[in-house]
Amino acid sequence: MPAARIVLNPTTTAPADYQPRPDLLAGKKILVTGAGDGIGRAAAEAYAAHGATVILLGRTVEKLETVYDAIEAAGHPQPAIFPLDLASAEEPSYRELAQAIEENFGHLDGLLLNASVLGERRPIDSATWRAWEEVMQVNVNAQFLLTRYLLPLLQRAPDASLIFTSSGVGRRGKAFWGAYAVSKFATEGLMQVLAAEQENTSRVRVNSLNPGGTNTAMRRAAYPAENPASNPAPADIMHAYLYLMGEDSAGVHGQAVNAQG
Ligand SMILES: NC(=O)c1ccc[n+]([C@@H]2O[C@H](COP(=O)([O-])OP(=O)(O)OC[C@H]3O[C@@H](n4cnc5c(N)ncnc54)[C@H](OP(=O)(O)O)[C@@H]3O)[C@@H](O)[C@H]2O)c1
Repeated sequence: MPAARIVLNPTTTAPADYQPRPDLLAGKKILVTGAGDGIGRAAAEAYAAHGATVILLGRTVEKLETVYDAIEAAGHPQPAIFPLDLASAEEPSYRELAQAIEENFGHLDGLLLNASVLGERRPIDSATWRAWEEVMQVNVNAQFLLTRYLLPLLQRAPDASLIFTSSGVGRRGKAFWGAYAVSKFATEGLMQVLAAEQENTSRVRVNSLNPGGTNTAMRRAAYPAENPASNPAPADIMHAYLYLMGEDSAGVHGQAVNAQG
């Protein structure tokens, strides 16, 4: 039977003082999208450091190889790489991804849907269709296809965690955030629909996580005038990513979680 669900406030913050035990994710198989840079890279390395075998998915192979080498050099479980450009991949590529994971690993214990693009920062009345379409393809359509094809592998695990990546502007709209904000509202919607479907019938926990302002390429592009050091580094918010991925958050389901208070 699935663990009893904990009902939290609709939006909650991961415990800031959370201390994961070193072997929290030992033996787990976890796929991270956008694993070559920013928050996805930090999460892949944190999961591997806590014992997981990570599957690194992203569009820039050299970046994925750098993360692969760092994980191997640190003596963590040997990762795997799956190059995929979420802007251009067609449905068969997602089927192939699921088949490759099934053949090599049998199932998935965790899925961090992290990869996103920022798109244009401009008012709706001057937004371009091309940029809108790309943001929706990467941030919404690809999230659906990854979920659609990888969910059966998560359902085979004794206790699996699926984490969607949200944003403050995906919970309250803000001027000039255009397609990006709308895509994050859609992400929250997908999370809620899926969480309701998995309620009591599956051992897959489904939540969204808003990292909050974090010093990455995306943040620097969104706020060029800001001092980058005013935001935490990706490694500084990994307590939330570990908490939500591991068994210490058992029962947390259908929640919009914040990494920072
Ligand atoms: N940083 C913040 O302050 C902040 C705040 C709120 C929410 N978020 C969310 O947190 C997540 C991570 O953001 P980040 O700040 O770490 O951004 P980032 O530094 O720009 O990293 C984004 C990652 O997504 C990958 N990616 C982008 N387009 C892709 C595509 N078409 N196919 C495959 N992979 C693709 C990138 O690959 P390449 O490196 O190869 O381009 C990169 O690894 C995103 O969902 C973002 O919306 C971030």
